[in-house]
Amino acid sequence: MQEIGVILLAAGQGTRMKSSLPKVLHSLGGKPLFLHALGTAQRLNPSRVAVVIGHGADRVRQSYLGGDVTWVIQEQQLGTGHAVLCAQKAFEDFAGDIVILSGDVPLIRESTLRTMVEHHRRHQAAATLLTALLDEPKGYGRILRDSRGAIAGIVEEKDASDEQRKIREVNAGVYVAASPFLFAALSAVKNNNRQGEYYLPDIVTIGLDQGKIIETVGVENAREMMGINTREEIAFMEKNLRESINKRWMLAGVTLKDPDTTYIDEGVTIGKDTVIGPNTHLKGKTVIGERCQIDGSAFLTDMEIGDEVLLKFSVVMTGSRVDRGAIIGPFAHLRPGTHLANNVHIGNFVEAKAAHVGEGTKANHLTYLGDVTIGRDTNIGAGTITCNYDGFNKYRTTIGDRVQVGSDTTLVAPISLGDDVYVATASTVRHDVPAGALVFNEREERVREGWTEQKRKKMKGSKK
Ligand code: UD1
Ligand code: CA
Repeated sequence: MQEIGVILLAAGQGTRMKSSLPKVLHSLGGKPLFLHALGTAQRLNPSRVAVVIGHGADRVRQSYLGGDVTWVIQEQQLGTGHAVLCAQKAFEDFAGDIVILSGDVPLIRESTLRTMVEHHRRHQAAATLLTALLDEPKGYGRILRDSRGAIAGIVEEKDASDEQRKIREVNAGVYVAASPFLFAALSAVKNNNRQGEYYLPDIVTIGLDQGKIIETVGVENAREMMGINTREEIAFMEKNLRESINKRWMLAGVTLKDPDTTYIDEGVTIGKDTVIGPNTHLKGKTVIGERCQIDGSAFLTDMEIGDEVLLKFSVVMTGSRVDRGAIIGPFAHLRPGTHLANNVHIGNFVEAKAAHVGEGTKANHLTYLGDVTIGRDTNIGAGTITCNYDGFNKYRTTIGDRVQVGSDTTLVAPISLGDDVYVATASTVRHDVPAGALVFNEREERVREGWTEQKRKKMKGSKK
């Protein structure tokens, strides 16, 4: 079995994006554009992968967290042929076939690439390219064929005659080529064309002149070869992608009350019979269990949510874990590092950060739980604040099981409350409290009868 190599072209700036961000870093379906084609190519188990970068090279490289890739810098964008040639060094001792893809063509399918490689090998071709029949071929390179229907060359839109521009069969910009042929042909490519560029498609006529076999494979669905040039095209593709992801989850047993406003990233998984309300965003590697209910206006990133969790209207949750039966919201905020055990209740206007909350514990109103570990069946009263920051360092609070924290309590960390502690309402607690104790602040309460009337009289008198 011959080896497969991959070259991904991603050096272009993408002028029409009108952006300081390189085109291939614009996000589609929650990840940079070029990672789509790269991910697909990697599923072919290539023995080496080269990515040609140029514009914003460092940022492009940094956005990639995957496996083994050779980064090739193309200093000046002199054309697609030049870009591939830049990767030659990475394939010096490589005799297999190389799949060439563009970073801005994200929907290309693994099966299409496999069909191409298979066709290429069956016909012992020097190069095989993907073509498509388009109703609107504008902008693409056109496929020229001889009288017997064999490919005779490719002419770019800008170099084409009026007659050639009528050709509806286009070059999809996806190639399989035998490595030795590819680099030999590329070194013969000239830039004597309207754009003054070294065109990769010129390897077709060079190959034919040498008597090599050049093959084409027609793409099944022209959608998959669509390239991205503008933000409008990203939005359109995003919508298509979103629709197909939503459809997949509905077919898998998830109810989406309003698919038009449901945004699910590719890396998300959702359990059966979960019901998702409008304006829900599930991002990153979020995992949602079975029979959960998300009322709506939810923004979840990298969350792990167990079965039968209820998220009431309007929650923002990031990098945290929520176990079975928990109830959260409305208007709650979970920040990274939080873990809510089974049946925890987090109510309105509660913010939790790096909070570990034990089974059955409730914090139902107006509370900040930052850097805290709380036991089980504890009740956190309204307006409780963990004072975790002194302006220099962060400190943890520890609260035991079955603790009653009265409303309007401030817990000044580092601090620890044992099991079964009672905190009287409106306490500021600065020292550790042993298990079973009551803690309260000594405060005198006074009542002055008739005070309001006196005050009003006095104020009226001073108004004159
Ligand atoms: C290219 C093909 C065209 C085909 C179309 C399909 C050429 C000359 N033309 O045209 O026949 O129909 O794709 O989408 O190849 N790139 C570099 N370095 C460069 C130039 C380009 O890395 O110097 C990268 C771009 O970032 C992009 C890809 O190569 O990812 C394609 O380049 P682009 O300029 O978009 O080619 P097209 O004009 O679309
Ligand atoms: Ca393009």
